[in-house]
Amino acid sequence: MKVYITRKIQSKAIKYLRENGLTVSVYKEDKPIPKNILMKNVKNVDALIPLLTDKIDKEVIDNMNKCKIIACYAVGYENIDVKYAKRKNIIVTNTPDVLTDSTADLAMALALACSRRLFESRKLIDDGKFKHWKPDLLLGYEIKDKIFGIVGAGRIGEATAKRAYAFGAKIFYYSRSVNMKMEKELKAKKVSLNKLLETSDFISLHVPSNKETYHLINKDNLKLLKPNAILINTARGNIVDENELVKFLKKGKMFSVGLDVYEHEPKIHHELLKLKNVVLAPHIGSATVEARTAMAMLASRNVVSVLNGKKPITPV
Ligand code: NAP
Ligand code: GLV
Ligand code: GLV
Repeated sequence: MKVYITRKIQSKAIKYLRENGLTVSVYKEDKPIPKNILMKNVKNVDALIPLLTDKIDKEVIDNMNKCKIIACYAVGYENIDVKYAKRKNIIVTNTPDVLTDSTADLAMALALACSRRLFESRKLIDDGKFKHWKPDLLLGYEIKDKIFGIVGAGRIGEATAKRAYAFGAKIFYYSRSVNMKMEKELKAKKVSLNKLLETSDFISLHVPSNKETYHLINKDNLKLLKPNAILINTARGNIVDENELVKFLKKGKMFSVGLDVYEHEPKIHHELLKLKNVVLAPHIGSATVEARTAMAMLASRNVVSVLNGKKPITPV
């Protein structure tokens, strides 16, 4: 049976697939696979491992003659037409949990880089402006005793809350359901989105991208933010209205922003690049050796399981 992978993933996983008797083909170029090549290559495969940059829409799915599983190398799966795949009896899996700590670490890294102005610090040194220690050089804020607002109290939201709590923050969260573990262990308090935005010093986004969360942070509610607010987005770019965020930042209405994801990825709003209180990362939430190896292995284990007639390990 054949597996197609749309980019070179960790070799341990490819070895594992081959050891399980599968014929593995990989798109070899170092760029997202063009649609026509994807269409051609999904035709006769039994399993597909795509990246989050590949749009697996009706057209691609209709081109699959015998595919049994689409095993995403990501936890977010808004790039896949899951409903249509289901109609075609194709199982879709993702890679939850294994990238949770990695992504929560990055959310905290961005929170600290923003609150302690790390990139402005580096620039000051590069510009030759570090002349002497002084009482008001690059003052930022501490996390201790601040309100840390989590939007989307799922796996990564909870792991980020845990870290912020360890730093001494009070945790607020906004989610549709109650997260009992966070309430018990972190004394977290569930609040409305507006209340979270108007009271939090740090706001970290962790909802998936879907119709309901599109521009969840927008012109109307950005104005609720405190002047010292720090907004972190490691979820998906279109959860924030990026144009409105830029306007808001330019007016100096908040302290800073830390972004790992963008509304028109990989394009970054040109004005974001000019603002000094913005920390930017190129979608590296899960980019640790540990997480990426585990993601490759989990996607592959899902493939092997389903092609052996067993249940998927992590179906979406
Ligand atoms: P998850 O466990 O499913 O958590 C998402 C949480 O969001 C859920 O617990 C859900 O809680 C809440 N939610 C969903 N829809 C909502 C809505 N309309 N309003 C309010 N809350 C809503 O997912 P996860 O594993 O934490 O991953 C979260 C997202 O992070 C992924 O979908 C992905 O887009 C992103 N991500 C990014 C990176 C990166 O590299 N930057 C890495 C990994 C993941 P309720 O059901 O209670 O509302
Ligand atoms: C990364 O962004 C993921 O969804 O896994
Ligand atoms: C700072 O370096 C201090 O010693 O307080």
